[in-house]
Amino acid sequence: MTEEAFDVIVVGSCMTDLVSQSQRLPKEGETIHGHNFFIGFGGKGANQCIQAARLGAKTTMVAKVGKDSFGESYIQNFKDNGVHTGFVGQTSDAATGVASIIVTDAVTTIFNPAPAIPDLDPDFYRVSDVFCCNESEAELLTGSSVSNVEEARCAGQELLRRGCSTVIITMGPQGCVVLKAQESTSKHVPATPVTAVDTTGAGDSFIGALAFYVAHYPTMRLEEVARRAGQVAGVSVQAMGTQSSYPHKRDLAAELF
Ligand SMILES: Nc1ncnc2c1ncn2[C@@H]1O[C@H](COP(=O)(O)OP(=O)(O)O)[C@@H](O)[C@H]1O
Ligand SMILES: *[C@@H]1O[C@H](CO)[C@@H](O)[C@H](O)[C@H]1NC(C)=O
Repeated sequence: MTEEAFDVIVVGSCMTDLVSQSQRLPKEGETIHGHNFFIGFGGKGANQCIQAARLGAKTTMVAKVGKDSFGESYIQNFKDNGVHTGFVGQTSDAATGVASIIVTDAVTTIFNPAPAIPDLDPDFYRVSDVFCCNESEAELLTGSSVSNVEEARCAGQELLRRGCSTVIITMGPQGCVVLKAQESTSKHVPATPVTAVDTTGAGDSFIGALAFYVAHYPTMRLEEVARRAGQVAGVSVQAMGTQSSYPHKRDLAAELF
């Protein structure tokens, strides 16, 4: 195979969401009527990959799916979104979920510690260029409460002490805080107020967009990168679904590019 240059390389999980809507949960063994069913594409790594691709990044996914119809359609989903699938393998063994890691060929590594574990291997703090997590992940990793901007700044400082060079903690409608090891100040980047309909996958939209901006605008200040990624994620919360709510470049204001 010839060498290809990618803007964004995502190593992570692909999950097929089987979503049934019903008025209530069935009791054990009970059959009830539902009123809607759909199959969606999810998985933290794949979500981030799709968001970066939809913004125009040359993107490849590194993952393994099953040798089954879900695996086949997932690969087709990547192709439909312009994601390179040469590194998406298929296996007849059960697949394992993994925390997602995004690597761009500009050697920048964005690490998203999800699902978070309190005793995360300390190397992850040191080797990632941007350590990006949400409030609950920051809370779990640092052991202290993260529910407002002040607490997020403190948790971010703790993550810097553990060896991160840059930390972003996302806080839903409160936006995010950005901290850099070389600077003693932390910056709060507020989110634009929107009417949120479904916030599922907002964090993955944010990280996918972050990877896009870091790859395409390598000299852009991180606060500006975070502000724009927040705008993209802010669009995704205004519609139902995960990948189905992720905007394409054509849906976004020209000032974001
Ligand atoms: N209700 C909201 N209003 C405006 N922006 C939002 C809202 N929820 C999420 N966002 C945007 O998406 C980003 C990531 O969302 P967050 O909820 O922190 O991630 P996660 O999905 O991991 O919990 C936020 O930093 C913000 O920019
Ligand atoms: C943070 O992300 C994790 C993993 O995606 C998710 O389970 C959790 O609900 C998120 N926390 C918040 C506060 O949204």
